[in-house]
Amino acid sequence: MSLIVNASRSAIRITLTAIPLFALVTVLCTGCNKRSTRSEPAAVAQMPHDEHTSGAERGLPELQTYAHRLDNPARDEWQRPEEVVALLECHVGMTAVDLGAGTGYFLPFLSNAVGEDGRVLALDLEPGTIEWLSGRIETEGLSNVRPIVVPPDDPELGAGSVDRVLVANTWHHISGRVEYAKKLRASMRPGGLVLVVDFTLDSPEGPPPDHRLAMDRVVGELEAAGFEAEVLNESLPYQYVVAGRPR
Ligand SMILES: C[S@@+](CC[C@H](N)C(=O)[O-])C[C@H]1O[C@@H](n2cnc3c(N)ncnc32)[C@H](O)[C@@H]1O
Repeated sequence: MSLIVNASRSAIRITLTAIPLFALVTVLCTGCNKRSTRSEPAAVAQMPHDEHTSGAERGLPELQTYAHRLDNPARDEWQRPEEVVALLECHVGMTAVDLGAGTGYFLPFLSNAVGEDGRVLALDLEPGTIEWLSGRIETEGLSNVRPIVVPPDDPELGAGSVDRVLVANTWHHISGRVEYAKKLRASMRPGGLVLVVDFTLDSPEGPPPDHRLAMDRVVGELEAAGFEAEVLNESLPYQYVVAGRPR
């Protein structure tokens, strides 16, 4: 199996076997590394969202453990993926984007929500993560999901080409967020919807405090980029959900 890499706007074809396992697992950890030492509920401790140094500093066994954690079923207890995807209001046939798809935790839910006639674009800046996703897509038969490597400052989506964008636990990683949100805005079809899911300032787990974003700040960033934005009501214990609809 092969996939298309959109880095530098030129398509590069790479094979699934081209990246050694070490590199593959290493990139899964990039951007997220140092676990909290606070005591917290066991299910919360399953996902190292608060890790924010280079994964290249870790040994292979630790990196494999990290990759395992992202998709630990215990995460479902607080991440509530069915509820998150329900808030995204997907319909059959839509094009949905998973921005910062990571190991693909949300992909089965998104794939099911848009159906066989829809498609899911799984975007991530890490080529190894996208390799990982490609394997998962094949194994789980997610035939409507397309994995794509993107640069950090541009989702490289066509104008008016997508209906839904999920940005789960990733918005705080993005630099120049208003400019980035303008690019997302330009990619949206009429009636489009962007959801930003991220950790609250007082969550017991999540990024280090100086990496977290207040929900009002996210609302302001989306508004500045041309969205009508609001904080949604939901039941997630550790995160907020901000919705943006093109004005
Ligand atoms: C904490 S993980 C979240 C993964 C997934 N959304 C989840 O909730 O399980 C953040 C992911 O976003 C990716 N990422 C960070 N900045 C990005 C950017 N500017 N564009 C695309 N992906 C990005 C990282 O490589 C990483 O895979």
